[in-house]
Amino acid sequence: MSLLKEYLKERGVKEIIEYPHGFVTYAIQDKLCYIEDMYVLPSERGNGWSTRLADEVCADAKNKGCELISCSIDLNAKDNTSNFYTIYQYGFRPHRAHNNEIYFIKEL
Ligand SMILES: CC(C)(COP(=O)(O)OP(=O)(O)OC[C@H]1O[C@@H](n2cnc3c(N)ncnc32)[C@H](O)[C@@H]1OP(=O)(O)O)[C@@H](O)C(=O)NCCC(=O)NCCS
Repeated sequence: MSLLKEYLKERGVKEIIEYPHGFVTYAIQDKLCYIEDMYVLPSERGNGWSTRLADEVCADAKNKGCELISCSIDLNAKDNTSNFYTIYQYGFRPHRAHNNEIYFIKEL
């Protein structure tokens, strides 16, 4: 188990799925699953890894009774344009904007 996974398990607040080329962290609360962070190594981007990671999150969330999945974009973070493409391409739609953050949602 990676150090990050160990840490998140001990804190008990988030789930994590790790691949050699990337990871995703998410939290489940009642019927909502919120994707907190996703990262794919720059050299591996554009190869569908984020889609595979998101598919695994959705499967786990559904198993745990979730009906919605959500994620957000921090407008202060750099290089956000491809995140918009990735999020939109996966079927998320804008839900609300708050404090420089745009939240997206998708039915499971
Ligand atoms: C965002 C991120 C996770 C995407 O990972 P990825 O593995 O490269 O994404 P994928 O290859 O699965 O692409 C997903 C879709 O978005 C599309 N896409 C991504 N960037 C695009 C762009 N600039 N223009 C058009 N389409 C784009 C892809 O074509 C793909 O669509 P398809 O399935 O129809 O081909 C990756 O860029 C990353 O780690 N960025 C840095 C960290 C970050 O900002 N994380 C998100 C905030 S928490």
